[in-house]
Amino acid sequence: MPKLTGADVSKHNSKDSCWVIVHGKAYDVTEFLPEHPGGQKIILKYAGKDATEEFEPIHPPDTLEKYLDKSKHLGEVDMSTVEQEEKEFDPEEADREQRIKQMPPLAACYNLMDFEAVARKVMKKTAWAYYSSGADDEITMRENHSAFHKIWFRPRILVDVENVDTSTTMLGTNVSIPFYVTATALGKLGHAEGEVVLTKAAHKHNVVQMIPTLASCSFDEIVDAKQGDQVQWLQLYVNKDRSITKRIVEHAEARGCKGLFITVDAPQLGRREKDMRSKFSDAGSSVQAKSGEDVDRSQGAARAISSFIDPALSWKDIPWFKSITKMPIILKGVQRVEDVLRAVEAGVQGVVLSNHGGRQLDFARSGIEVLAEVMPVLRERGLENKIEIFIDGGIRRATDIIKALCLGAKGVGIGRPFLFAMSSYGLPGVDKAMQLLKDEMEMNMRLIGASKIEDLNPTMVDTRGLGVHSAPVPVDTLNLNAYDPLQGPRFAEKPKL
Ligand code: LAC
Repeated sequence: MPKLTGADVSKHNSKDSCWVIVHGKAYDVTEFLPEHPGGQKIILKYAGKDATEEFEPIHPPDTLEKYLDKSKHLGEVDMSTVEQEEKEFDPEEADREQRIKQMPPLAACYNLMDFEAVARKVMKKTAWAYYSSGADDEITMRENHSAFHKIWFRPRILVDVENVDTSTTMLGTNVSIPFYVTATALGKLGHAEGEVVLTKAAHKHNVVQMIPTLASCSFDEIVDAKQGDQVQWLQLYVNKDRSITKRIVEHAEARGCKGLFITVDAPQLGRREKDMRSKFSDAGSSVQAKSGEDVDRSQGAARAISSFIDPALSWKDIPWFKSITKMPIILKGVQRVEDVLRAVEAGVQGVVLSNHGGRQLDFARSGIEVLAEVMPVLRERGLENKIEIFIDGGIRRATDIIKALCLGAKGVGIGRPFLFAMSSYGLPGVDKAMQLLKDEMEMNMRLIGASKIEDLNPTMVDTRGLGVHSAPVPVDTLNLNAYDPLQGPRFAEKPKL
């Protein structure tokens, strides 16, 4: 069959007949327009044109195969005949490309925050906005990290800590350190290879990776990237169409996933204004604005995701999940004691005390604060071994992990820091981030007087500051003025023209 030409495709550039090119092939998406979870506008922007660059990071590679009827697959396009669109000069993008050339070497990153400081300057604006944003005023997002500062240590002395062992188990899996790579959507926004980068790093460090439902790579690509007896879990967004959900769950189990983490804190996606604003001001949206159309600020990833999730999901569904899988079931996004007790009653194997990285309900409390409330109640009722408790949100230092473990968590999830390390430095970045945590963990366990994970217990932390949400004190100005603030990694000087 002769290949289509750019001219053939470009004729179909409207709502009435809309063709797009993705990876060198043409597709007729006219009828699909109203069904597109991300809205019609974004497709129409590429009507008659090559949409690959926009499509790639937010759709797993098997999307068109799965969702677009075969009759709409029009075949290959001779790409040499497709007009290359002149990209409008974008001064911000030019500055970013310059900053990439001046990036600090990986060796200049000493801690997890350093990756974030670099990522902020080198990531594409829209990608940074999606990853880094939180809900509303981002109070919860910031509180997640700050809450750890309200817990102080009560170290033990004169304990033999010559050998420190940070290994433990999570849902029956042996891991080298009690953190896991938690699920985060759209990995290809940050790195061309997407989530498989995290898979490789997790293997190297013998930690578990939780595979997101809304990954950029396909589920199978992420599973294919695992090595040896590496363990992965599945994070699940529950679809309104339960047969789709059932298929996803059964497939994950068949492919060896060892845990089903059902997200329960996102019946609708939170409002992330930084993300919305960055989309609003990008070139595409301003073209729409010029053409007189209303700019749909909620389009793109967030909207696609919201339409996929079933807001009717309830406790009533839990027995059904238990009936379709033998994987341990863990509820991800539990935020109060009462619901942990209900989870025990429902017979699930775990909960993640989490507020979704501060991306959902603003003024939800931090996972660590909820943990401090939950564990004494579980112990009082003799339920502490009936269920595994995990937390995520705001963890940036091994001391944060230690605090959670002292309070009774089995492990902690870490999301954004690995995305930032991946986006800035690729696999070596994620590898380094994990190694830094391991080094910090060993040192701080030694300093707190614990040679193994079981030694960590509630007597080793002072949590009296937790639960206090606003206790402003006058600023100590002399000290503040004299304090020499910590600096992140330095970018190279811009060459003089
Ligand atoms: C988010 C969803 C995808 O937080 O988990 O953006």
